[in-house]
Amino acid sequence: MPFDIDWPAIVARVRTETFLRHVERHEELASTNDRALELAADGDLPLPAIVLTERQTAGRGRGVNVWRSGPGALAFSLIVERPDGLPRERMPVLSLAAGLAVRDAVGAVVPGHAVKVKWPNDVYLDGRKVCGILTEVPPRSPDRAVIGIGLNVNNTLDDAPEEIRRRAVSIIERVGRAVDAGELLVSLLVGLESELAEFAEEGGLPLVRWSPHCLLSGRQIRLGSPAGKTAGRCAGVNDAGALLIETSNGVQAFRSGEVIAF
Ligand code: BTN
Repeated sequence: MPFDIDWPAIVARVRTETFLRHVERHEELASTNDRALELAADGDLPLPAIVLTERQTAGRGRGVNVWRSGPGALAFSLIVERPDGLPRERMPVLSLAAGLAVRDAVGAVVPGHAVKVKWPNDVYLDGRKVCGILTEVPPRSPDRAVIGIGLNVNNTLDDAPEEIRRRAVSIIERVGRAVDAGELLVSLLVGLESELAEFAEEGGLPLVRWSPHCLLSGRQIRLGSPAGKTAGRCAGVNDAGALLIETSNGVQAFRSGEVIAF
């Protein structure tokens, strides 16, 4: 039965096979990011830490977005220390490193399918969003980051609004069979540990590995940002995690914004 996830077994594996030093599992939470932001205020909390939940009732996305996670989906948030040299206000760039770890873990279970990273915080499977990442800085512990990951694994999107069904996908719907969510989670976390370590060592994003998987590179895109709307051909991202757009005024780099057309 695809939706059966053996949570005690998963928690045991996360404790013994990954870099996480504190593991908290809930049957239901409003939002794992909200709980992680609360936990992050505790100076004695062993880090890195993870908050996992079987059901999330009020998952949050970027801005005003809502994140739906039905049974069979993975929803969790990590609490990590700020990598040396990364300014506090640039912590959301960690979403890009996390996206690469998700991409690699999903790619390994769906060989032959296109799994891409989309700046700044999504992973796409065969052209549809399969994962959203929300990285936030806890206001009372600004040297820590909460990295929230929602991944559509064995869940159905049948009851989602039409607009979401058009843009999103779950692994089971796309490949026609359930995948081992525990195995996927552990491999994702192992990959995330190396991504975060490399990010800290390199002082930025490992572009050589990120760029080949960029969904937007080479496409005509439109970005909405505090500077207004910008259209042009996407030239990938730079190692500071900024999106590059070739415009009639040359290549412009954007540290924030939303891709509104691609
Ligand atoms: C987005 O697509 O805008 C980001 C979605 C992030 C969703 C995840 S699910 C786990 C964690 N808890 C939340 O409330 N949000 C993130």
